[in-house]
Amino acid sequence: MGIAIQNMFDGIARRYDFLNHFLSAGRDRAWRRKAAGLLRSGRSPRILDLCGGTGDFWKTWDDLRVERAAGEGYGGQGMSGKSSVGIIADFSLGMLQQARKKFPGRPEAETGPALVRMDALRPCFKAGSFDAVLCAYGMRNLDSVSSGIDEIGRLLRPGGMFITLEFFRPTTAFTRFFYNGLAPLSIPFLGWFFSSRKQAYAYLVESIRGFKSVGEYRDCFKDRGFRDVAVVPCDFGISHIVTAVKG
Ligand SMILES: C[S@@+](CC[C@H](N)C(=O)[O-])C[C@H]1O[C@@H](n2cnc3c(N)ncnc32)[C@H](O)[C@@H]1O
Repeated sequence: MGIAIQNMFDGIARRYDFLNHFLSAGRDRAWRRKAAGLLRSGRSPRILDLCGGTGDFWKTWDDLRVERAAGEGYGGQGMSGKSSVGIIADFSLGMLQQARKKFPGRPEAETGPALVRMDALRPCFKAGSFDAVLCAYGMRNLDSVSSGIDEIGRLLRPGGMFITLEFFRPTTAFTRFFYNGLAPLSIPFLGWFFSSRKQAYAYLVESIRGFKSVGEYRDCFKDRGFRDVAVVPCDFGISHIVTAVKG
């Protein structure tokens, strides 16, 4: 399963950002910003963007941090590049190559983000390496969500925060209509039209319908000793943010 997913994302990488923005009518930007805004961090946070793909989530968070720093009188510069350790990890080389294009003139050794090709279920970092882990639209693709959460728990320092942004199995009348009616009719067709990859966009819809509900996902964290687990719906539950703090 993992290798098929990896190949699928390699195949759509070049059109991924465009289709993300197009299919969500640009709302994905607002969802990422809302999710990134929930992370309050110190001046030198170590952040892992897991399943980070083309780097949009990490970039959103970093831009927001620079804005906040400027607002607080740090001038932005010191808070942006050198003082943070940002890592974008993904197992698709194609997606990471697209991420690389977003950070020109920011050599990894100096400012980050570093790009790491890695399977989220076999991370190459020591326990407690990160103050925060972000994951946007990645958890749904893992072979085992519970193993993924266990690994994230291991990577976080005690008190570190995990922020998920995800589409969950629909449970309300509106989201059932959206994901069981509208999305299967339109998304595979639009995916085929713009990227010639109908299967990948059919998978997108199927993987949402076959995933956990947001309530089931939230309970996974409670069962694993995370605390302060909170759910924030975006646009009537089309997407959700789930935050959890390592106990
Ligand atoms: C829907 S994209 C999301 C990308 C990005 N986070 C965003 O917000 O647009 C899902 C990403 O998860 C990656 N992915 C899926 N399973 C993975 C795994 N087991 N290990 C690492 N990356 C994985 C895919 O390669 C893909 O880039």
